[in-house]
Amino acid sequence: TPRDKIRNFSIIAHIDHGKSTLADRLIQACGGLTDREMSEQVLDSMDIEKERGITIKAQTVRLSYTASDGETYTLNLMDTPGHVDFAYEVSRCLAACEGSLLVVDASQGVEAQTLANVYQAIDQNHEIVPVLNKIDLPAADVDRVKEQIEEIIGLDASDAVQISAKTGLGIPDVLEAIVNRLPPPRGGDHTAPLKAALVDAYYDPYLGVVVIVRVHEGILKKKQTIRMMRTGGVYEIDKVGTFNPKLTEADALGPGEVGYFVASIKEVGDCSIGDTITEDKRPTDKALPGYKDVQPVVFCGLFPMDAGDFDDLRAAMGKLRLNDASFTWEMETSAALGMGFRCGFLGLLHLEIIQERLSREFDLDLIATAPSVVYEMSMTDGTEIELHNPADMPDVVRITEIREPWIAATIYTPDEYLGSILKLCQDRRGIQIELSYVGGRACVKYELPLNEVVFDFYDRLKSISRGYASFDYTLIGHRAENLVKLQILVNEEPVDALAMLVHRDRAESRGRQMCERLKELIPRQMFKIPIQAAIGGRVVARETISAMRKDVTAKCYGGDATRKRKLLDKQAAGKKRMRQFGKVEIPQEAFVAALRMD
Ligand code: GTP
Repeated sequence: TPRDKIRNFSIIAHIDHGKSTLADRLIQACGGLTDREMSEQVLDSMDIEKERGITIKAQTVRLSYTASDGETYTLNLMDTPGHVDFAYEVSRCLAACEGSLLVVDASQGVEAQTLANVYQAIDQNHEIVPVLNKIDLPAADVDRVKEQIEEIIGLDASDAVQISAKTGLGIPDVLEAIVNRLPPPRGGDHTAPLKAALVDAYYDPYLGVVVIVRVHEGILKKKQTIRMMRTGGVYEIDKVGTFNPKLTEADALGPGEVGYFVASIKEVGDCSIGDTITEDKRPTDKALPGYKDVQPVVFCGLFPMDAGDFDDLRAAMGKLRLNDASFTWEMETSAALGMGFRCGFLGLLHLEIIQERLSREFDLDLIATAPSVVYEMSMTDGTEIELHNPADMPDVVRITEIREPWIAATIYTPDEYLGSILKLCQDRRGIQIELSYVGGRACVKYELPLNEVVFDFYDRLKSISRGYASFDYTLIGHRAENLVKLQILVNEEPVDALAMLVHRDRAESRGRQMCERLKELIPRQMFKIPIQAAIGGRVVARETISAMRKDVTAKCYGGDATRKRKLLDKQAAGKKRMRQFGKVEIPQEAFVAALRMD
């Protein structure tokens, strides 16, 4: 396709504002698929989405559209992952496009997630067309939402396209806006050495690794030997093509085009998102800007409930990693929980997705330790270390400084919930940066330690705002803080899985709270059990679980045998979900429940 007939765009939208419905409508309107294929296709892509862990991967669709000017255009729709954990993937996807549709549900208005992605698109110099969706709903308030777009985002909304993706109303206007208001790819010499962006990669059971690319200069073609500039990997191209939306082979991809290639790459981990792909023999002199190494920011330990499942767990994690290189792990042995893995994730949602898939798809019964962040430490001998597991914290006398990651959070909420939200942020050591109101809604910016957010901040935010507040964050770097290691001792034994780093000012109250919780959560045993919280060897809180007086079945002696049987069965069932700590058994729920912060 000639460059001026190409439009590369993405759709920016908050969850549920209708991105998928609109994308389906656009595909349908461009006749890419028959009605029957349409329903099959939609199902197919849903399966892939599931395999890929929902919203982790970018997807693209190439559409052929004959506009009202009589010309036929190639439209490449790049679908971006939908969550803040994957912000870097989103940025690489947007970097592969020249424009975006900003879809806002006209009955809901602008949300925090929309803001974050729009700002990224603005950073990429995108032309942005606002699209107001769901105007069929009686609650749609077009004028109010236009005003929000102008006041909050600062985009002119007077020409916003008004549509109902559900009924199909306004879809032709969207297509005309894409052609007339979004720019074609800029520059791009097809005789220059190849310069293409690696947008994303996924694992296909038949083809192996499929790489999604955007060509900026030169030509990408079959049999070409390419080099990935970051990783240094050299491969021969087996296949190139486009997503129509099925994979359709082509001979070559030229400047401005978006498509895929396959090149006997073994695993997704060999492809770095944002890398520049060039010719091995005739490389381009400068890589594309914006590359970043993606590092996990949240860690937790995963252990099989039943030690016999360890190999199954390892195999399942290997399968997940085939398609998700951002999920990392290493073996870990815990005194309390046995053999397992210390796993790294891009964020909390990523962690939840992986945990859920391990238990649902692979049927594994797991214990997860509390999520923790990555601490940086300067040591007295001049070295710097990164701590992924509070249980491994070195002796304090060897540490000169401990730094923890901070985030800049944007919270967007109806103003009646503002008071409780400010209190929540304040309780989590937040620093208020900005507070503004637009049309009955408040926009709050806070800086917060990531550690105070990883556990249950989002759940709390949703519950205090009845689900109406939206939340988004970016990492802003590490800051030195007065942090100490809080240890929990059960029956005088430290439980490594419950160790955590906390701010000194809060360590005592946290310790007390943990002891109180555990006292409720750990069942009585035949002997007295002390539960203690200690900071650097000094006990700061203590509770005692008193001994059980009698055997549970004692009261049934001489009585009803079936009742006694039932009690014993109940005990046995309870046992399955317990962990033995020295002489003491701790139920699985205790690990998570003890760490909740309300
Ligand atoms: P995620 O895939 O979760 O990110 O959501 P999404 O933004 O892709 O939204 P999706 O297209 O799945 O739509 C969310 C819900 O809104 C679905 O139940 C749609 O049927 C509904 N919906 C989408 N567009 C319209 C519309 O124009 N009018 C009405 N009434 N409902 C719509």
